[in-house]
Amino acid sequence: MEAEIDRILIRDHDIARRVAAMADEIAAAYPSDAGELTLVPILSGSIIFVADLMRRLPRRMRLAMVSISTYPGRSTRPTEARTTLELSTDLEGRDVLIVDDILDTGGTLARVRGMVHQRGARSVRAAVLLRKPGKAPPGVDAEFVGFDIADEFVVGYGLDYDDLYRNYPHIGVLRPEMMR
Ligand code: IMP
Ligand code: MG
Repeated sequence: MEAEIDRILIRDHDIARRVAAMADEIAAAYPSDAGELTLVPILSGSIIFVADLMRRLPRRMRLAMVSISTYPGRSTRPTEARTTLELSTDLEGRDVLIVDDILDTGGTLARVRGMVHQRGARSVRAAVLLRKPGKAPPGVDAEFVGFDIADEFVVGYGLDYDDLYRNYPHIGVLRPEMMR
């Protein structure tokens, strides 16, 4: 796998340190006496991030997963988002934290926020590990952001190209010849 990565953008220990700090920021935003939190991870890209983040969040919480696909197969350009697994849980009156790997054009986050509001959540916030600044329209943003990165296609720590490289521990840029 290493040979297919052009360069490492963020190393695993730097990710771990930032995720721990994000968990502290999130914990501070949800006082411990505020009741249960519902995490809504967007599959599949957020699996590693949410696993690390939730274990550092000492709150009573539930999980309601949703699956959205924007980069089907070998494309690195977003297409129309498709919901491939519907949010099935009733979120009436709940405090919801949406968790995603990366905020790019914002289509995914806007769609999931809509779904969560529709199910009656009391509050909706979002945590993303990565953000490509200036790509999402004004008004589409996350309350908690790990790192701002340049507009490059990245893989690792859950992020994929053609469903590959999710298990790469760092965040890296693929060699261009791997993306075809
Ligand atoms: P958006 O809807 O354009 O904001 O894209 C968000 C989704 O696209 C994320 O949940 C990722 O799954 C995927 N995505 C966006 N940029 C990248 C990237 O650089 N590498 C891998 N996946 C990406
Ligand atoms: Mg993805």
